[in-house]
Amino acid sequence: MTSAENDANSAGRSAGISYQALLDTDTKPVPAVLRMESPAQIPPSFVPRDQYTSQAFHALEVEKVWKKSWQMACREEEIPEVGDHQVYEVASLSILIVRAAEDEIRAFHNVCLHRSRKIKQHAGRSEMLRCPFHGWTWNLDGSLQEIPCAWDFPHVKDADYALPPVQVGTWGGFVFVNPDLEAASLEDYLGELPSHFERWPLEKRYKAVHVARVLPCNWKVAQEAFMEAYHVLSTHPQLLQGIGDTNSQYDVWDSFSRAITPNGTPSPHLDWEPSEQDSLDAMTNRYLDEDPSMVLPDGMTGRQLLGQASRVQLAPLVPGAFDLTDAEMLDSFYYTVFPNFHPWGAYNKITYRFRPHGDDPHHCIMEVMYLNPYRGKRPPPCEIHWLAPDEDFTHAPELGFLGRVFNQDVFNLGSVQEGLRSGVHENLVFANYQESKIRHWHRLLDRAIGA
Ligand SMILES: [Fe+2]
Repeated sequence: MTSAENDANSAGRSAGISYQALLDTDTKPVPAVLRMESPAQIPPSFVPRDQYTSQAFHALEVEKVWKKSWQMACREEEIPEVGDHQVYEVASLSILIVRAAEDEIRAFHNVCLHRSRKIKQHAGRSEMLRCPFHGWTWNLDGSLQEIPCAWDFPHVKDADYALPPVQVGTWGGFVFVNPDLEAASLEDYLGELPSHFERWPLEKRYKAVHVARVLPCNWKVAQEAFMEAYHVLSTHPQLLQGIGDTNSQYDVWDSFSRAITPNGTPSPHLDWEPSEQDSLDAMTNRYLDEDPSMVLPDGMTGRQLLGQASRVQLAPLVPGAFDLTDAEMLDSFYYTVFPNFHPWGAYNKITYRFRPHGDDPHHCIMEVMYLNPYRGKRPPPCEIHWLAPDEDFTHAPELGFLGRVFNQDVFNLGSVQEGLRSGVHENLVFANYQESKIRHWHRLLDRAIGA
């Protein structure tokens, strides 16, 4: 260990420039949202291994998390017309989200009240909600419309057979559902989160990319791989000359947390000092196997040049783009809203969602969406692209260079699950600061399950 590392360790933070000091070099006035610091104040965390492997723990999560939490179900733009519907499934739950009126979205348990067939299997548009099995039919507001041969059901009263509702809320162009009718509103649940996104309104984006893939690990193993930059050193070593991995800032609030990882600043792990041109190359060509795409003029940093180039690119699509900071153009602001929603801030367009794959604690569904700004009429949202079991993220060329980075991320995950299943050590241990988003998340899980 070098003495610089020793110094840093006594302060509980990495050597190298802090994120707040890096903001001092920005060419634009820095907004309050970037200046906030809210580090987790919780004792060291140990998480039992069986939370990732046990069928009984999965069942507990269904009861205490999936049946009780606000979850992002779809985008509002996916149900623009009355009668449009989407199906959101998590574990064994299936929820039908319906545009019931021009300005009204409703959601119901997606189960026929006759013999329990799922009413809809896919997204679509229909004037009524009709079960394909015997034709029981509901209105878009969930009231019972028709039972074929109603004479045979004198014991079924219309009022008792409305579709059981699920709570609905919207934020940022997303539709959220919560099966718990007693739960506080989405607005209460999100708390300060919307104020963080005031400069980056996600409702003014459209869903340009949506890729889904089944991974051979528990859903928490997968999402926790996207909640810290501690793994960059070993998992993405090609990024080090242009990423301040260990200089990331981690903050937590009530239902959500965020990490900010700076780009265009070298990793403290490097044992050499990259030039500003090296940093620029690392930002513009993440695999360093092509010629530099930009040459840095004298007296400018890579962050300043790329910040300005990004503002020029964004300006036709985003009003006020020239007021955005270099930080908002370049850095990674990755939020996590408990339990499984990960929207990115500023003008990085990523959103992730992670879910269990049915009731299997050893598999999950990872989804990547890109929410792009647009000009004029909103482009239609893309269809979801499900990767086949033998396909990796490079089989979704719409992901661009990040497909290769995501492949690096998920390369570890099946092996993590296998290691967990081997049962060698009972508790996972987490870093105090760099894994504080994960630690905070587990506090929320503990609260949900009453631990
Ligand atoms: Fe990564």
